[in-house]
Amino acid sequence: MKVNGVDHPAPRDARRLLADHLRHDLGLTGTHVGCEHGVCGACTVLVDGAAVRSCLMLAVQAEGAEVVTVEGLSSDAELTPLQKSFRKHHALQCGFCTPGMITTAHALLSEEPNCDAARVREVLSGNLCRCTGYIPIVEAVLEARAAYQPTARASDGSGNRA
Ligand code: FES
Ligand code: FES
Repeated sequence: MKVNGVDHPAPRDARRLLADHLRHDLGLTGTHVGCEHGVCGACTVLVDGAAVRSCLMLAVQAEGAEVVTVEGLSSDAELTPLQKSFRKHHALQCGFCTPGMITTAHALLSEEPNCDAARVREVLSGNLCRCTGYIPIVEAVLEARAAYQPTARASDGSGNRA
């Protein structure tokens, strides 16, 4: 599979979960594991552009796929628009849920850059946050919509506006 643009061999253990493969084999610990049974959303990553729970997927099921983790949605140079918006709106406290929020929001905004608050709430309803509360998170995602408009993405040239 390709992870954040880099080719990686399949794990030796066919029963290895994608979340464990990312964290323990590839060192991508930005993907968090909370409930380990598909409830909290902290382990959400993108597989061929779709937000999926990496605790419910075997790594071998991602063979041939493009996997993007929260590390792949960030830049060393500066915060991305989505990250800036989360900071501006105080949309995180402990940050445990944040990777899942960011990957889920990125998938939503990439598909639906004009989504409204109701749609953001619906999509993020599968991601649990135990400390911040959801209002600032929804506000952060709504403000980041501007960076996902076709004109904004075209001018940047990268298409990656997380
Ligand atoms: S750890 Fe995967 S959904 Fe909670
Ligand atoms: S910021 Fe702590 S769980 Fe969401």
